Amino acid sequence: MTNERRSGSVSGTSRGGHPIGVLDGDGIGKEIVPGAVRIVDAAVESMSAPRIDWQRLPFGRDALDDYGDAVPAHTMAALAELDAWVLGPHDSASYPEELRGRLTPGGRIRKEFDLYANIRPAKALQGVKAVSPTMDLVVVRENTEGFYADRNMFVGSGEFMPTPDVALAVGVFTRRACERIAEQAFRIAESRRRHVTVVHKTNVLRLTTGLFKDVCTEVGERHPSVSVAYEHIDAVTAKLVRSGEDFDVLVAENMFGDILSDLTGELSGSLGMAPSINASDSKVMAQAAHGAAPDIAGHNRANPTAVLLSVAAMLEHLAAGDGPSEFAHVGGRIRSAVDTTIASGVGTADIGGLASTSEFLETVTAHVVRGA
Ligand code: IPM
Ligand code: MG
Repeated sequence: MTNERRSGSVSGTSRGGHPIGVLDGDGIGKEIVPGAVRIVDAAVESMSAPRIDWQRLPFGRDALDDYGDAVPAHTMAALAELDAWVLGPHDSASYPEELRGRLTPGGRIRKEFDLYANIRPAKALQGVKAVSPTMDLVVVRENTEGFYADRNMFVGSGEFMPTPDVALAVGVFTRRACERIAEQAFRIAESRRRHVTVVHKTNVLRLTTGLFKDVCTEVGERHPSVSVAYEHIDAVTAKLVRSGEDFDVLVAENMFGDILSDLTGELSGSLGMAPSINASDSKVMAQAAHGAAPDIAGHNRANPTAVLLSVAAMLEHLAAGDGPSEFAHVGGRIRSAVDTTIASGVGTADIGGLASTSEFLETVTAHVVRGA
């Protein structure tokens, strides 16, 4: 690890390798994030892929104690120079009362860098009991506006109380945001089973989710090989439980996508194993969907699967953009090593296994090095 400032282009792979940020975060983040970094290094080395120059950045409780801010200004400034980073979980519910009314640390980073696409795959793994054992879909969630009033304003909050007994929230839907998230969804579908389900609620929210739906339709016309279906948010939850294997890519506004991705994460195994990335057109952040689990922190019991699969998705995303093409193979190698590990019966306690975090990581490392 190095905190050394690099000169020149940060997207190049010369000198110290491809720079990627690492923000361990709180609780179990301190075990699973460094574990994931070691596995990526093992994969990179055994595949002779371009090296990664990991840049550790203060974030979370430690940063709050040391710098008075869970996302210090110098962390934000360093992220601005990077095209990728791994964000560990934060336990912001335990931070001082006066900070709790604010946007969460992860939310601040998403907003600062306009990470508008929250991409959340839900794929059942062999060896993990799942309600939908054949589910293999991706929720593409709009991450910047919609019904989440804590983040849909440039200044201030879209949630307010004119009197102590009246609370209002403003939803925001813009053509630009609908268009760019739809574009992501259709592109992802083109690399998969070529089907997009547009999630809306136009029987009630005619103008807002109506604009979302209409713009998705327009974008879909630019991707003629992808078929499109439309579902109301309430109806789609029932269909996901009944026949989740029928879905490929679902695109949804912020709140619908937040709720749907918890549902699909759990249906495909466990929300605790659900990966995600948050992306703009130039940056990508790996962030497991789960929290900091302070109750088991430091006990060597946490499941690193979600962060490993998030990091794999981040590397694949970099490779699909301007990053080194070899990163796609590194991501794939990590993904199959996790699959093989769990299918062989090595799992942490949350999925009914006996392995500790370090035993799980060791087994994944062995498969990564062996290439199986
Ligand atoms: C998520 C979470 C966050 C969100 C919370 C923790 C602020 O639910 O990433 O899914 O609402 O975006
Ligand atoms: Mg959520």
